[in-house]
Amino acid sequence: MRMDVKTLQRSLDEAGQSHLLQFWGELSDTQRSHLLEELQGLHLQELNGFFHRAMDGFSASSTQEKVDARMEAVPRDVLGSFTRDREHLKDWEAEGFTHIAHGKVAVLLLAGGQGTRLGVTYPKGMYDVGLPSHKSLFQIQAERILKLQRLAKEKHGKDCIIPWYIMTSGRTMESTREFFQKHRNFGLSEENIILFQQGMLPAMSFDGKILMEEKGKLSMAPDGNGGLYRALGAHGILKDMERRGIEYIHVYCVDNILVKVADPVFIGFCVAKEADCGAKVVEKMNPTEPVGVVCRVDGVYQVVEYSEITLATAQKRSPDGRLMYNAGNIANHYFTRKFLQQVVEVHEPQLQHHVAVKKIPHVDTQGSLVHPEKPNGIKMEKFVFDIFQFAKKFVVFEVLREEEFSPLKNADSQNGKDNPSTARHALMSLHHCWVLNAGGHFVDENGTRIPAIPLHPIQENGSAPGHPQNNMKDAGDLPIQCEISPLVSYAGEGLEPYVQGQEFHAPLTIDESGVHQAVRNGVHP
Ligand code: UD1
Repeated sequence: MRMDVKTLQRSLDEAGQSHLLQFWGELSDTQRSHLLEELQGLHLQELNGFFHRAMDGFSASSTQEKVDARMEAVPRDVLGSFTRDREHLKDWEAEGFTHIAHGKVAVLLLAGGQGTRLGVTYPKGMYDVGLPSHKSLFQIQAERILKLQRLAKEKHGKDCIIPWYIMTSGRTMESTREFFQKHRNFGLSEENIILFQQGMLPAMSFDGKILMEEKGKLSMAPDGNGGLYRALGAHGILKDMERRGIEYIHVYCVDNILVKVADPVFIGFCVAKEADCGAKVVEKMNPTEPVGVVCRVDGVYQVVEYSEITLATAQKRSPDGRLMYNAGNIANHYFTRKFLQQVVEVHEPQLQHHVAVKKIPHVDTQGSLVHPEKPNGIKMEKFVFDIFQFAKKFVVFEVLREEEFSPLKNADSQNGKDNPSTARHALMSLHHCWVLNAGGHFVDENGTRIPAIPLHPIQENGSAPGHPQNNMKDAGDLPIQCEISPLVSYAGEGLEPYVQGQEFHAPLTIDESGVHQAVRNGVHP
């Protein structure tokens, strides 16, 4: 029901937010109706509560040494590893595939972020990093889901579905929906792609006043990827999962081009360990790398973000020379549906928002738009990993960076890291390795084989499922142009019939229509 302006003004006065109607007299009818809608969507008392709790938590944690002193590295007994546990990988993979084949596994994509660092106005999942196929991140992920469904069917002889839940925000919902429609859901059925929207919160000044982007518009932003838990409850997503028989959920972030959606090995590992919550990590090599670290603080598991750790602590090394806090969070999480149910019903309201201090453009009391030079306010966000602390059994699985982690954060022009070029190169290097490991070779324009060097140490005991035992990579700086469709191979498996004993000129692409490679003076059709 619509509130009249007088009643609204009264509740704004009571909440100390009366300035929000300051320019009411200057607004057009359309602007007034938008503003009314925005204000009626706010729970003012709750919002003030969020602000005070978040600011209290922020001041308490602002002495960084305190967090550092309370941190402990992940103990060995909860840590599984792709390289150290090779003898178990096949069993974990088989376990994962069984659950996929029985329709118990779903994937959940966090795609409500705004891509500010990448500098695009559309959702990051739509980004084309410039692969030979020009596939978007969404398409790559969709095709990996399709391929896994097919692999599970081959192994278990029955059709199965991996539902894909996609969390968007007010800023990304419509364009995401249109993109999927335009591309006919990349071959997946529409009923198995479930889009839902996370909440938004207004930016606030340091004294708790809501900031306005325009005279008739609040400055709103998504409430962080931990907004997931409130959104799961609000949109009945867990009920939908229950109805479909889902028990295990792989949650991941949109920007990692190498993400192994619903990775059977990771799912199988977590199920075998009877965990209710798990995180995939890569070894953090460089103290200043912008990844959070999974660790314990005051005895409970959490991720300490790169912005929260002091350089001195980030630089600490163990006696073996590795970083002490080296469990780099790659934002791939495992949860049981039952655990999520408990989080939504019991713990979500206890989660406190994190504070991001920002320079927030806003309309001042004179009605002028100000672009502040110094931080002038905060955005409040919950983080997806804030619920690790509630797990009864938490596990960590370490995987190889070159196989599983290359995030797209920045534009190419900004710096040399985590940008479209590094993402493209990471995927092509990996696919090059897959070709070599399946017995194919690359030759240069003179027909000479291109030399290769080992990508990482060869393990002596057993080979990983679908994983190269003899992983090789060319010695040059730029990767060989090589792209394999996820519809052909999910993780390097099944490539022998395409490449074994053959020599190729790059660029090489392998898709469902076959093998396409360059010839000296042109490209084969
Ligand atoms: C994130 C992790 C960090 C990890 C890094 C690895 C969090 C809070 N931090 O950091 O520990 O080392 O990835 O790449 O997870 N998103 C939403 N809604 C929001 C905000 C973000 O869905 O309100 C989504 C984004 O679309 C994206 C993901 O969350 O898929 C990560 O967001 P981003 O802001 O890029 O996180 P990072 O700071 O890079």
